[in-house]
Amino acid sequence: MGRKIAVVGAGYVGLTTGACLSHLGHDVTCIESNPDKVELLSQGRIPISEPGLAEIVEEGLSSNRLRFTLDREAGVKDREFIFLCVPTPQDEDGSADLSYLVQAASELKPYLQPGSIVINKSTVPVGSTHVVADALGRSDVHVVSNPEFLREGSAVADFLKPERVVIGADDSDVAARVAGLQLRRSAPLLVTDPESAELIKYASNAFLATKISYANSIAALAEAVGADMDDVVIGMGLDSRIGSSFLQPGPGWGGSCLPKDTSALMYTAQSVGYSFSMLDEVVKVNNAQFDRVVEKTEQVIGGSLEGMTIAVWGLTFKAGTDDLRESPSLEVISRLRAKGAKIRGYDPEVKGSSPILEGIEIAVDPYKCCTDADALVVLTEWPEFSTLDLDRVVQELSSPRVVDTRNVLDRVALRRRGFVYRGIGRV
Ligand code: UDX
Ligand code: UDX
Repeated sequence: MGRKIAVVGAGYVGLTTGACLSHLGHDVTCIESNPDKVELLSQGRIPISEPGLAEIVEEGLSSNRLRFTLDREAGVKDREFIFLCVPTPQDEDGSADLSYLVQAASELKPYLQPGSIVINKSTVPVGSTHVVADALGRSDVHVVSNPEFLREGSAVADFLKPERVVIGADDSDVAARVAGLQLRRSAPLLVTDPESAELIKYASNAFLATKISYANSIAALAEAVGADMDDVVIGMGLDSRIGSSFLQPGPGWGGSCLPKDTSALMYTAQSVGYSFSMLDEVVKVNNAQFDRVVEKTEQVIGGSLEGMTIAVWGLTFKAGTDDLRESPSLEVISRLRAKGAKIRGYDPEVKGSSPILEGIEIAVDPYKCCTDADALVVLTEWPEFSTLDLDRVVQELSSPRVVDTRNVLDRVALRRRGFVYRGIGRV
């Protein structure tokens, strides 16, 4: 039977969670503090790019199982389950800023039904389930942790067919009620204490970051010894203990989760007196990777970047999303600009400028992006980049030079056309 659910915060995580729960047959109210978003979403217009999301939002709206509101009281008063999906951004010292979460909890406090369950999906430091419970100050309301493992670009699929569901609760009956919301899921369910659930989330994302930094280090070594990283990844991945995913070398890792979660885990370790020095190195390797891309650009140009125009393909933090938050592409671009380069960028998901793109000229197509540019740097692995007409690219560039940080271009075809080429982990 469909349950009555509220979701607080209709961003990447909250909107996906709310829409998917309504798709599973529940009655969902999304409470969102941004009036423009409420207006857009109520008309079935989706402010983010996420495959499959528009369809299930539309389905939820037309079946009347999904609605959006600014009104917290109306949004939660008859609800049995309340998901918290507000941001937990990185504070200046690297810790996670819990102010949105604490504020959301205290604002909901007067309206919650006795016996209702508040489920925290925002990524929070170990111990925060209790912080939420304290902010709520309601002994008749349960608080549990249910971390999200949604990848942008496949968030709907990840929600509906997850690899695992983790519920952190002190009371097993409460955990069973939360697990019951996801009956159609066949994924392994782990019910644990809230602290372990919270740690699982951070440990997973920091491990993914570690795996990529390791791959980027091996790629640097591969270049130096004349090995081919593509084959190294295949060879390593055939060992089921290692697996080939998240071993793809690139310009460095980014996005709204990996950087902030890695830094928050380091902060948590420090606060309990453990020096997680391995993660310091993981972050250092990542920053060095941004610098290595700049060095490669200098190498293909054969000198200083001062006054050079660099064409950049790919601005989002990975393919399949329109998200620019903590994008490695923007990290590399700011370093190129610091060396005096002028940047013209193209991204299939970025139309027009925004404050985060200040100082970057946005081209309408990948060829115009290259017009009279001194080099091309590929920073996001959009599949369309591998099928573009290289003869046109040669004609547009002032000189055929390319750095392909995602190894998506055909280096043999490039070299045949006279390109000076640098990839990652290959010669
Ligand atoms: C989420 C999680 O909350 C974060 O902890 C996790 O690590 C990553 O995913 P995300 O959904 O990506 O964040 O954030 P965002 O897209 O910024 O959405 C948050 C939404 O909450 C926004 O729409 C914002 O307007 C809304 N919001 C924020 C509220 O409704 N109330 C608030 O008090 C604060
Ligand atoms: C991440 C987690 O994967 C997901 O489970 C959830 O917890 C939210 O955070 P997301 O932020 O969408 O998801 O990005 P992810 O797919 O993890 O990629 C992160 C970064 O790593 C991107 O910049 C990506 O380009 C990079 N990456 C990924 C690589 O450089 N190489 C790889 O092999 C994989």
